[in-house]
Amino acid sequence: MMSRIPLIAGNWKMHKSRDELRKFVSDFNNCPAIQERRDHATDIWIAVPYTLIETASTLCADMPVTVGAQNVHFAKQGAFTGELSLSMIKEVGAGFSLIGHSERRQFFAETDEVVTKKVATCQASGFVTIACLGETLAERESGETITVCDRQLAAILSVVTRPEFLVLAYEPVWAIGTGKTATAEEAQDVHAHIRNRLIERFGEDVGSSVRILYGGSVKPANIEMLLAQKDVDGALVGGASLAAEDFSALVVAGYQEGP
Ligand code: PGA
Repeated sequence: MMSRIPLIAGNWKMHKSRDELRKFVSDFNNCPAIQERRDHATDIWIAVPYTLIETASTLCADMPVTVGAQNVHFAKQGAFTGELSLSMIKEVGAGFSLIGHSERRQFFAETDEVVTKKVATCQASGFVTIACLGETLAERESGETITVCDRQLAAILSVVTRPEFLVLAYEPVWAIGTGKTATAEEAQDVHAHIRNRLIERFGEDVGSSVRILYGGSVKPANIEMLLAQKDVDGALVGGASLAAEDFSALVVAGYQEGP
């Protein structure tokens, strides 16, 4: 049975100045997550705003923390005002990028087609992505959770030829930033479905090796029951990743679930 290293990933969204970043890093360094520093027991990633990638990578160079971006454009370069290419985010130190976060889909009209192109660009370069999917409240209430997740997942997987560079995040839209978390069973049901799709696509060994994160109001009080689920391999965390103490508690919970 394949053991997957838990991954605790923060998503800072549009938060923090450089001074606030410095304070976070210094506070986090003093927290149990870093003091215990169980290397390789848990992966710790943070997706910061573009403006912080370079400073964060420098500040975290000696810490077991990987800094990433929250988005990336699919084109190499060109007339795309306000966008950044993969080589641009790599140049300043990004080690991964989120793709297809529900806020991108909802507020910036990102379609499955765009998500597919972005995943394809990252796959071609062997660049790690956390590709996100999840249903809205209306979709859940009308019984469409699996249909919607299947559609979004198919769009992502259609271009995945190097699954070792892929992490998936199941984030029910109704649970993001709302304080409502999916129950552990609700999360596991969808994660198990995604796992089956991965195994169908890549075979048992490779399909079992791809990590599936849960996201949506994850906090120190609920992470343990989520990580205890067989197919929940970590968490993608917004609000609770902003305070070093909370983020540290989440990482320590990951250590406990570690292989
Ligand atoms: P939240 O955000 O933890 O604040 O709900 C999660 C996310 O959007 O990735």
